[in-house]
Parts: sequence; C-alpha cells; structure tokens
Amino acid sequence: MESKKLERAEELRQVDPEVAEAIDLELRRQEENLVLIASENLASRAVLEAQGSVLTNKYAEGYPGARYYGGCEFMDRVEELARERARELFSADHVNVQPHSGASANMAVYLAVLKPGDRIMGMSLAHGGHLTHGSRVNISGRYFEVAAYGVEEDTGRLNMEKVLELALKFKPRLIVAGASAYPRIIDFEAFHRIAQETGALLMADIAHIAGLVAAGLHPNPVPVAEFVTTTTHKTLRGPRGGMIFCQKQYAAKIDKAVFPGLQGGPLMHVIAAKAVALKEAQQPEFKAYQQQVVNNARILAEELAGYGFDLVTGGTDTHLLLIDLRSKNITGLEAERLLDQVGITANKNAIPNDQRGPQVTSGLRLGTPTITSRGLPPDEVRLLASLINEAIENRHRPSRLSRIREEVKRMCREYPAYGFKQD
Ligand SMILES: Cc1ncc(COP(=O)(O)O)c(C=O)c1O
Repeated sequence: MESKKLERAEELRQVDPEVAEAIDLELRRQEENLVLIASENLASRAVLEAQGSVLTNKYAEGYPGARYYGGCEFMDRVEELARERARELFSADHVNVQPHSGASANMAVYLAVLKPGDRIMGMSLAHGGHLTHGSRVNISGRYFEVAAYGVEEDTGRLNMEKVLELALKFKPRLIVAGASAYPRIIDFEAFHRIAQETGALLMADIAHIAGLVAAGLHPNPVPVAEFVTTTTHKTLRGPRGGMIFCQKQYAAKIDKAVFPGLQGGPLMHVIAAKAVALKEAQQPEFKAYQQQVVNNARILAEELAGYGFDLVTGGTDTHLLLIDLRSKNITGLEAERLLDQVGITANKNAIPNDQRGPQVTSGLRLGTPTITSRGLPPDEVRLLASLINEAIENRHRPSRLSRIREEVKRMCREYPAYGFKQD
C-alpha cells in the first residue's frame, strides 16, 4: 500500500513537476505554520485518500437508484453511505450530499423555495453574516429583496427581540440564521419562533459549527428549521463541500434544486470523502475532539483577554473568537501580515460597525479546529496566546519576531499536521 502511494507521488512529480512542487510546498507550509483560520481544518488521511480516488472519473447525474448514466452501482453505494451517516448524525429526515460547496447549498435552498424579488432576512455581512445571506455583492443580494439584522453595538450579540421586530415589519419569505464570524451560541429555537410568528421559512446555515452540532456541543437546528445547510470542511473536518438537510415535505424540491436546478454531475470522489468524514464524526473520539476545539478556543480567548485584547462579546462559546484590535493600535491587515511572519496563519476580519474597509479591517478572527486536529494541548495554546501578544507588542523588533518564529516551528515539529515523510 505504502509503496503504491509513493509510486503515485513519483508519477505526479514526473508528469507535472511544477504542480508537484507547489503541492509539496503547500504541504510544508501547512506543516510549518500554526493555522488559526476558523473556517479551515485538517482532513484525515482517509478523507484525502477517498478524495484522491478513481471516483473522480465517474459521471453519476441523478440520485441513488435513479441515475442518468450506466455503471453507477458503486456510486449509489457511496452516496447512500454518506446520506445514511449524515441523517443519523444530525437526526434529519432527508439530506442532499451533492452540493459542491456551502454557497451552492444555500443557492439550492433559495432556488427551491424562492422567486426572484422575494424577501429574505439574513445577518449582515458586516456583523458576521455570510456573503450568501443577502450581501449586495452576491447573487442572494441581487435577486432578492434583503433586510439584514445585526448585533448590538454594546454587547456584540444578537438581540432576538430586534430580529423579531424587523421580521414583523419586513415580512420575509425566508429567514437565514447562521454566521461566519459570530462567537456565541445561535438561538435557533428563537429564530424558529420568529419564523412561525411571521409566516417565514427558516434556513439555518451551520457551515461553521457543524462539527460542534454533530458532537452535541451546539444546539441542532434540524428539528426546528425547514432547511439546514452546511459545509463539510470546517469544524466537521471533511473534504471541501456542502450538504442540505430538510424536512420530508421539501425533499423532492431540494433534490430537484440541486440537480438539475443548479448543478450537473455530482463530485463522487468528494461525496466518498464526505462519507468517510461522517463515519469519523460518528466515533466517540470525534466528540472528544470537538470538546477540545471548544476548550482551546476558550483558553485562547481568556489568555488573550488577559493580555488586554478586546474580544467582541467578551469571549466565545464556540470554536472561534473575534478580536477588536483598535485598543492595540494595529489594523487587521497589519496583524494578519505580522502573524504570518512568525508562522501563525489567521485572517483579518471586520468587527461590527467597522470604520475600516474589508481589505484592512479592525479585527482578527481566530479559530481552533486546525491546531486541535494537530493535538496542541492546553499549555501550548496558552503559549500560543502569549506568542501572539509578544509578536504584536514587539512588531518592530525583528530579532524578537525571529525568536517567536522559532518557537512556532518547534510547536509545529512536536505536533505535526500529517507527519508525511518529505524529501
Ligand atoms: C456561514 C457560511 N455559509 C456558507 C459558507 C460558504 O461555504 P463555501 O466557501 O464552501 O462556499 C461559508 C464559508 O465561509 C460560511 O461561513
């Protein structure tokens, strides 16, 4: 087995040394940097193997048992496994595992139940929502009439009374609950009550928190939302992709919206990798992993707050934290670049009501899924917080920054991402 894998790697190097080299360098980058990007993770070797398989050769338009191509018997088996595991894990009536991404999953729900010009309500992008929740630069903001709800200026938290007020006034056909940069539990029950009271459909987008939901560490919206969309590559730790859960009465509409409404042939190699990730998520170790993700985020938040960092909402309940950097006199862009220099990968992020544009920002979003996948223990997370603080405090001292880079390299060596042998 091992020798076959090596042969395959050798073949890529011979056929296309330029791409092979870029992949080698990317692997090295992932190994030698500590990634704190909240939306990234490290898929397991088993997931990588499934995704890199011959399933990429197969067309399987349609669904198990009803395909438009011959030779789909093993594709049906793979897709059924993914569907069964997803339904079981999230206690759902129906799932579609074909969306190519989180954005495609959201578009498919809109296509299934909305007409152009219909009204939707979503969390403002500027307050932590996602592009696909009605931003003007996205199709969701161009084809639908949008009202955005946001967080409170003083607490950084959602105020469900205000969400209700807006929904009563705006009367949306669909409400989107979910976020990309919100560090607190989302009250899906409250969203459900608001949707009921205003006659709206509810779509919960759990792209970020799907792993936490699967592990029972965040309330599951499946029982209360008509539609639940997710990505599979963030906390869930699978391949890049999406899924849609829905109540039985919407199953046919959702399936038709995904194919043939929005997509052509499903990416069967990715669906196989989703099935593998979902099996991994059914294991007891996955729950322990997610608990550690949340613990590590809390430790990082507490330690950084101890160094005087200002956290939006004052902390976190999840895998991510949002830092308001204004008190540290550094922009999000500068902090992102500085941390990159010492081997810590993070992303600049707008804080609610940010006065700076999205290319600069006043905030930094940090998440713990990837460092937890590497097995970084709490003591090292505390050290990491101190290194972030030290880098920002000593940003004009190159020798201090080199010392921090060495310490980060030491952590990376001790807690490898994959530990593949490299030349
Ligand atoms: C809440 C939310 N929904 C949807 C998406 C879109 O996922 P993708 O990048 O796979 O299209 C993201 C990605 O960041 C997200 O955070």
